[in-house]
Amino acid sequence: MTETGRLLIVHGPNLNLLGTREPEIYGTATIEDINELCRETGRQLGFEVETAQSNHEGELVDAIQDARSTADGIVINPAAYTHTSVAIADALAAVGLPVVEVHLSNVHAREEFRRHSYVSPLASAVIAGAGITGYRFAVEHLAELLGNGS
Ligand code: DQA
Repeated sequence: MTETGRLLIVHGPNLNLLGTREPEIYGTATIEDINELCRETGRQLGFEVETAQSNHEGELVDAIQDARSTADGIVINPAAYTHTSVAIADALAAVGLPVVEVHLSNVHAREEFRRHSYVSPLASAVIAGAGITGYRFAVEHLAELLGNGS
């Protein structure tokens, strides 16, 4: 299929360590495995997929702001910043693109502080606990929302 839309996948802090980071919680797939899954799913649905990861809040804000001119939708796992960052939520609101929030683990089955998300009120969909498959669901959802889905 010809690529007609663009998606940005944003990975928050410590997700660069996936594969070795607490595999009993986050699984053994690496961030590159996730990026490849997103690129492949996007390709099948007509979307070009860009990816970004940072351990720094301001860099994540910059990546989200840049998406204004480079993407049609955002998939974000803000990781720990989910629970703390007004700046990331404000950037997503400012950009105004459709957003899907993804968590590898079921944040609702863990510590109490993981149950609150600054991002969820801005998200078109929130996917938690499906492991890396959650990213495929997220890309499929955005494709359907943006009209490039089958
Ligand atoms: C996470 C859940 C967050 O609470 C945690 O801080 C992470 C990863 C997840 O994907 O399950 O770093 O977003």
